[in-house]
Amino acid sequence: MSKTPQKSRLRGTSPVPLPDEYIPRRLRGELATLLIAEWQIEHRVKALAARIEKDFAKKDLVVVSLLNGTVMFLADLIRHLNLPMHLDFMGVSSYRDGTQSRELVFTKDLRLEFKGRDVLLVDDILDTGKTLSEAMKKLRQLKPREIRTCVLLDKAARRVEKIEADYAGFEIDDLFVVGYGLDYAERYRNLPFVGVLKPELYES
Ligand code: IMP
Ligand code: MG
Repeated sequence: MSKTPQKSRLRGTSPVPLPDEYIPRRLRGELATLLIAEWQIEHRVKALAARIEKDFAKKDLVVVSLLNGTVMFLADLIRHLNLPMHLDFMGVSSYRDGTQSRELVFTKDLRLEFKGRDVLLVDDILDTGKTLSEAMKKLRQLKPREIRTCVLLDKAARRVEKIEADYAGFEIDDLFVVGYGLDYAERYRNLPFVGVLKPELYES
């Protein structure tokens, strides 16, 4: 009996917030909870890399990363990919009013050749889906053979566009998070963990 090949998909796991003592003292006034600890990210990123490595074996892999939020995730993910690959960046800024995204602006174009190649598009977080949808649209014009998507975080409840990530690290609730590359007004990108920003910091 023939089976239709199922596209490999890795859904995000749900993190359990850590006790308040885990929040570094200097950030206790700004973070409500520490949602995903450094070691949990490390463990999960390795699992994502293992699956991607399997799915992209013998393919002509080009990783495309969206700047700036993916810096830490990308660095950790690709160091665990034991595969030949190329790397390119797309700059996209979703000019935000506080925590709500508005129009998208592309700030850096791709440089590599994509025709007939296999793309892994990496972003930090899949929220409404507008960013990833627009980036896919741009990429498709370059005629790659296939495009798969990988995000560290997935806020599934917030989706507006019809898009799912092929590989997701963690599925989180509708909370504004910072750290591990993610920012609020360009701050907090350097935190090695993901934390929930206190709403009073942006709800004023
Ligand atoms: P989308 O276009 O609504 O899916 O939003 C995706 C982009 O918005 C991401 O690439 C992030 O830069 C940003 N974003 C969405 N949610 C958060 C968050 O909770 N914290 C920080 N940035 C976020
Ligand atoms: Mg971003």
